[in-house]
Amino acid sequence: MTSQTPVDALSVRGLTVTIQQESQHLRVVDGISFNLRSGEVLALVGESGCGKTKTAEAIMGLVPRDSGVVQATSIRIGDTELAVMPEAAMRQIRGREISMIFQEPLTALDPVFSIGSQMSSVFRRHRKQSRTQARQSSLEMLASVGFPDTARVMRSYPHELSGGMRQRVMIGMAMACKPRVIIADEPTTALDVTTQAQVLARLTDLGRKTGTSILLITHDLGIVAQYCDRALVMSKGKIVEEAEVKQLFTRPAHPYTRSLLAAAAGIND
Ligand SMILES: Nc1ncnc2c1ncn2[C@@H]1O[C@H](COP(=O)(O)OP(=O)(O)O)[C@@H](O)[C@H]1O
Ligand SMILES: [Mg+2]
Repeated sequence: MTSQTPVDALSVRGLTVTIQQESQHLRVVDGISFNLRSGEVLALVGESGCGKTKTAEAIMGLVPRDSGVVQATSIRIGDTELAVMPEAAMRQIRGREISMIFQEPLTALDPVFSIGSQMSSVFRRHRKQSRTQARQSSLEMLASVGFPDTARVMRSYPHELSGGMRQRVMIGMAMACKPRVIIADEPTTALDVTTQAQVLARLTDLGRKTGTSILLITHDLGIVAQYCDRALVMSKGKIVEEAEVKQLFTRPAHPYTRSLLAAAAGIND
């Protein structure tokens, strides 16, 4: 490597998640390695149950203790090694260096606090802003994720917003600390197609503008084609193919990728 080579935003080596089920150990993530380059949108694509969410939770340090054991040779954000990091230090990294956007934003938003208060608290806690500054930052962030009436959104409670609006709020909160990496786990699966497109466009535009790298988890090859630069194809806990998106669609190398493409095109053979 030369000195001009930019450090990857996220580098994962030998990541394994083992789940204890009855008397069996299931390797739901099985020794995967990949790099998320600076500024790119990287898809992690594969069928339901192949281990995508467990991969995301493992990187975030969010696999519940009783639901799986995480092992990794290395998980690095830039030069920071997360694989050996104690939970107290991980809490500082989450939100500041790496944020996650979940499939269902209602579970991530607190129903009893207004959007403004939840968003401001991110700026106050992580960016050490005053109440007034945090309010101003929140208004600006809401505008950048496409809300024209930011003051009204600030006063709203989560249940008063549509699914697409809530997901845009979550993008704003995830972006609040200008993290190096965002992991978005099927962020638009619960939304209708038009809203899906708006939310994904906001997310990927904002990522490209701010230099935040995005790992976009999806089972939808249409989303991969439209919004991602490269893709990792996952099957049964392993990464079976890694390719530029153009190449993935024109010259899929792995039989599993070809079957995914065929299934998406409605070909039964
Ligand atoms: N808490 C759990 N207990 C037992 N098995 C689980 C648990 N969570 C996930 N799994 C299993 O682990 C595998 C990977 O799950 P997941 O990462 O959620 O897949 P994906 O996000 O790709 O749909 C699946 O086969 C799932 O059934
Ligand atoms: Mg999942």
